[in-house]
Amino acid sequence: MMGRTKTRQLLTRKDFPDDFIFGAATAAYQVEGHQFGGAGSTHWDTFAATPGNVINAEDGAKACDQYHRYGEDMDLLQAGHFDAYRFSTSWARVLPEGRGQVNQEGLDYYDRLTDAILERGLQPHQTLYHWEMPSALADLGGWTHPDVHNWFGDYVEIIDAKIGDRMASIATINEPWCVAYLSHFIGAHAPGKRDIRATSRAMHHILKAHGEAMTRLRAKGRDNLGIVLNFEYPTPASDAPEDIKAAAVQDAIYNRWFIEAITKGTYPAEALEGFAPHMPTGWEDDLKTLIHQPLDWLGVNYYTRHIHAHDPEAAAWPHTKEVAGHRATTQMGWEIYPEGLHLFLTWLSERYVGDLPIYVTENGMAWEDHVRNGVVNDPERCDFIQDHLAMMKQAIEDGTNLKGFFYWSLLDNYEWAFGYEKRFGIVHVDFETLQRTPKASYHMFKDILTRS
Ligand code: NOJ
Repeated sequence: MMGRTKTRQLLTRKDFPDDFIFGAATAAYQVEGHQFGGAGSTHWDTFAATPGNVINAEDGAKACDQYHRYGEDMDLLQAGHFDAYRFSTSWARVLPEGRGQVNQEGLDYYDRLTDAILERGLQPHQTLYHWEMPSALADLGGWTHPDVHNWFGDYVEIIDAKIGDRMASIATINEPWCVAYLSHFIGAHAPGKRDIRATSRAMHHILKAHGEAMTRLRAKGRDNLGIVLNFEYPTPASDAPEDIKAAAVQDAIYNRWFIEAITKGTYPAEALEGFAPHMPTGWEDDLKTLIHQPLDWLGVNYYTRHIHAHDPEAAAWPHTKEVAGHRATTQMGWEIYPEGLHLFLTWLSERYVGDLPIYVTENGMAWEDHVRNGVVNDPERCDFIQDHLAMMKQAIEDGTNLKGFFYWSLLDNYEWAFGYEKRFGIVHVDFETLQRTPKASYHMFKDILTRS
């Protein structure tokens, strides 16, 4: 095995329960090539075209061209001895206007992709919304519109009728914090708003959309339904009570809002402090009737921690700011903090989900990878993966019902506001030629998945 920096015993498949699955993940807009196959415009296309939003104003028009190269990509997963592929289906590819006319070419594509996954003995794990909203609906207000959950529910039924019966699992929404807070409060993702009222509505409507999808899919008899939440470990910058409070507020907005709504039917008080005055009418009832529904599994995306401090200069709630840490960072500037993964897995099972199956649906790192003599050596990523696998193993030993791990990502791809600069893949992609080159980390996976 190539290029690892740490000398230690490699964790392999054998260190995990027999039914533990190993997969790799991607998302439609980041890999498919949105210009192909009759997909409609999305709010990411508009956002990316607006100067200042995305590095080099890049978009997902071509991406990795998985639309035409999915066979090659699934071959890579099969040859690496992976068990599963996590992908998303794009609303605007299925319904170019978000509602109404169906794009048959789009449905057929997902049909072919599903076949290609299954033919190679891989499990298909679908996500229904991974961030690109059809422009026609975004123009009406997108996630702030009171009917958005119904629009979403209609799309969900259409795609489900085509491929739903073949999915190993179906996730409603990917990372609702990013869809709501990052996109409507911080303004870093489409639609790029910085507005507490829009944020409050999106924070609630995204959960209504989750609930609506659950209800509609349950009615079709699906019993493999979940949601993918992202968690970031919130560290107070100091022992000062105001810094501890700052971390608690961010914990409530980021980590607790979604899991508490779904598993307990409540929102945390520390977050309602800011959102309550702007919530849509009837939100308490929605929590009870639509949002608080049993899951079949929970997806956990985990990358890093954040250090929070009270910000006396911030005039508006939540009066917090982020402070840089001292740990080694990835190409994203994110601190490498594997302990946080163990903490979240045990915290989630002890406090919220008990024995419910959990999957780490994303974990990975970006690095400035280069092809040299046909080879990509990425020892940092190999270490990152092994360090996080150790935390997953520990969590299982501590009683978490962790059932699998999907590395983010199979391919270098379109990293949203960072364009094509940040490389998360275990397979390198040359964005000129679209050539795929498996990195050393891909070979490490193959090694750990085949060792007997
Ligand atoms: C989370 C998102 O689901 C994915 O789309 C993104 O590329 C990775 N994190 C890395 O930032």
